[in-house]
Amino acid sequence: AAWEKQVRHSSTPRRVNGFSVLVTGAAGFIGSHCSLALKKRGDGVLGLDNFNDYYDPSLKRARQNLLSKHQIFIVEGDLNDGPLLTKLFDVVPFTHVLHLAAQAGVRYAMQNPQSYVKSNIAGFVNLLEVAKAVNPQPAIVWASSSSVYGLNTENPFSEHDRTDRPASLYAATKKAGEEIAHTYNHIYGLSLTGLRFFTVYGPWGRPDMAYFFFTKDILQGKPIDIYRTQDQKAVARDFTYIDDVVKGCLGALDTAEKSTGSGGKKKGPAQLRVYNLGNTSPVPVGRLVSILEGLLNTKAKKHVISLPRNGDVPYTHANVTLAYKDFGYKPTTDLAAGLRKFVKWYVSYFGIESKRSKETQHFDESS
Ligand code: NAD
Ligand code: UGA
Repeated sequence: AAWEKQVRHSSTPRRVNGFSVLVTGAAGFIGSHCSLALKKRGDGVLGLDNFNDYYDPSLKRARQNLLSKHQIFIVEGDLNDGPLLTKLFDVVPFTHVLHLAAQAGVRYAMQNPQSYVKSNIAGFVNLLEVAKAVNPQPAIVWASSSSVYGLNTENPFSEHDRTDRPASLYAATKKAGEEIAHTYNHIYGLSLTGLRFFTVYGPWGRPDMAYFFFTKDILQGKPIDIYRTQDQKAVARDFTYIDDVVKGCLGALDTAEKSTGSGGKKKGPAQLRVYNLGNTSPVPVGRLVSILEGLLNTKAKKHVISLPRNGDVPYTHANVTLAYKDFGYKPTTDLAAGLRKFVKWYVSYFGIESKRSKETQHFDESS
């Protein structure tokens, strides 16, 4: 295969810092940032991504181009392709897997539920099946989500809070991922660390997320919808800047202990951890909009909808004490500072008239 030649003939995936990391979802928002950060500090990185069209694949290709300038190669393939994954582990002795590939987004689950089951459940199981059989097994850090807290009423959310009331199928598949991880840790001694990200935003972000298409719509003079909670309160999110999340991912990789199993056989108890990676400071969506209005120097046409958005939770708020204690995680970018960086990127990527932005959203937000 083409990728095999590339991988065998490049120095990219060889160990530099002691780590050789397979990054799944490397053409995605968080995966591309993490790949660059790992590479910059001297680790070996190989990406995997299926370049699906949930949102405009040209943005994924642009991220791929950026990564290739830093000698990071992305193998084009699916998590559900077992022989491909086995082959990847045969060719490269990965010490770690940073598993970020998934079907993301809360609302799209109402349009395409099977896509969540395929990538977030079947795809994750397939990756674990392959990883468990590798000798020695890689340590795995994977993306869970703040959405697992669902209709939790504790504030802020701590890792031991209830996660048995998911509000969307997306959340349910992320919760299922945590249960699945438990079984692979228990039976096969795989080292597994789940990271519950909280509404991550920043340059090279996802066009399906509110901060991104609000920017597009405000610039194009289109109305934006602002949803409310069931009891007519403002919805709030613990928006977390990408650079903070990247530091958290690297911290989790750095503190991941080796697996205790090998070749599918368990030897002793291995690590199983779950952490919140949020910003610890929830902001109402209305405030997000007013920050964007200021940065774009344009008034938004706000359309307040007195109903919750399907699948939405009323608020998210991370307690990050555990991640701080275990790997020094400390978010440092507030929403205004982070959005400033996003808008700067947005304008340079799309141009100020944002002609290309019309094409960035493939699925229909209004349905
Ligand atoms: P993203 O959609 O930009 O990245 C995911 C990437 O995975 C995409 O490039 C996609 O093409 C790829 N992919 C999807 N299914 C695949 C499959 N079956 N095989 C191979 N590749 C596949 O999303 P992101 O925002 O970078 O999210 C990364 C991870 O973090 C996801 O697991 C997501 O659920 C989770 N997460 C994200 C946020 C956030 O706010 N961005 C919050 C919580 C959790
Ligand atoms: C985001 C990501 O999309 C998920 O992939 C991720 O798992 C989740 O964060 C998480 O933290 O776990 P969400 O917070 O719903 O999900 O992100 P957006 O869809 O960008 O919505 C952000 C906020 O804007 C929500 O409060 C939503 O109610 C609001 N919103 C969204 C509107 O008011 N109007 C819209 O048109 C869209």
